[in-house]
Amino acid sequence: MKTYIVGNWKMNQTLLEIRDFFSQINSYKEEFLCETYVAPQFIHLGLALELSKEKGRVKIGAQNCGPKEKGAFTGEVSPVALAELGTHFVIIGHSERRHHFHEDNELLRKRTLCALQSGLEVIFCVGETLQEREKGEAMGVVEAQIQQGLKDIPPVFKEKILIAYEPVWAIGTGVTATPLQAQEMHHHIRNLLMKMNFPKGETIPILYGGSVNPSNIRELLDMKDIDGALVGGASLLPNEYIKLCEGSRNF
Ligand code: PGA
Repeated sequence: MKTYIVGNWKMNQTLLEIRDFFSQINSYKEEFLCETYVAPQFIHLGLALELSKEKGRVKIGAQNCGPKEKGAFTGEVSPVALAELGTHFVIIGHSERRHHFHEDNELLRKRTLCALQSGLEVIFCVGETLQEREKGEAMGVVEAQIQQGLKDIPPVFKEKILIAYEPVWAIGTGVTATPLQAQEMHHHIRNLLMKMNFPKGETIPILYGGSVNPSNIRELLDMKDIDGALVGGASLLPNEYIKLCEGSRNF
C-alpha cells in the first residue's frame, strides 16, 4: 500500500519560500519512501513544476479547478489547462471551499468529474463540523458528501480518486482527531466506497487531515485505514515536510 503526504499550501508561500522549499527537498540525501505531493497557489504552479523537475520527487497539484473544460467562468481555472501544464492532481471540496465559498456537493461533483475527464487525480475532501459531531451526525454528513459529490462518476475514473477526511474542527486548530476517531471514520468511508462499487474500494487511499504534524503523524498512520495525510501548516516549512515524509513509508 502506498502512503501519501500531501502538502496543502492554501494561500501561503512567497516565491522565495518556494525556491527554498524545493532547494531543500532536492538536496535531501535519502529517498522518500512515501508518495509526496504539494499543492501551491495557482499562480505558483509553473514555478513549482519547474523546481520539482530536478529530482522528480514531489508531484504538484492545484487546490481547486473549474467545473467545465472551458468557457465563460471568469476567475475559474480550467482542469484541461492544469493538466496541460503538467499538474498531477487537484484538491476538491476542501472545507474552506465548502464553508467560505459555499461550494455545495453538486458543484463539487461537476468539478470532480471534469478534473477526472481532464486526466487529473482528485483528492476529494469531506468532513463534519464540531456541531455536527456533537449532535452525532458526523457519519451521516460525511456519507452524504461522498454519495452526492461522487455520484455517477464513471467506473473508469474511480481509480483516480483519493479521499481526504478532514474534520472541520481539527483544521488549523491544533486539535487532531484521535487515531481511533479517525480510524472509525476511515473504516466507514471505505465500506461506503465499496458499496458504491469503487473497483478498488479496499485499497483506495483515504488520507486524514487536520493539525497533522511530525509528532502525531506516526500514530495516525499506524491505523489500518489511514493511508496518508493532507497537511496544511506543517507542510509549509521544508524541514517539517521532510520530517512528515520520514515518518511515513509505503508498505
Ligand atoms: P492543517 O490544515 O494541517 O493546517 O490543520 C489541513 C488542511 O486544511 O488541509
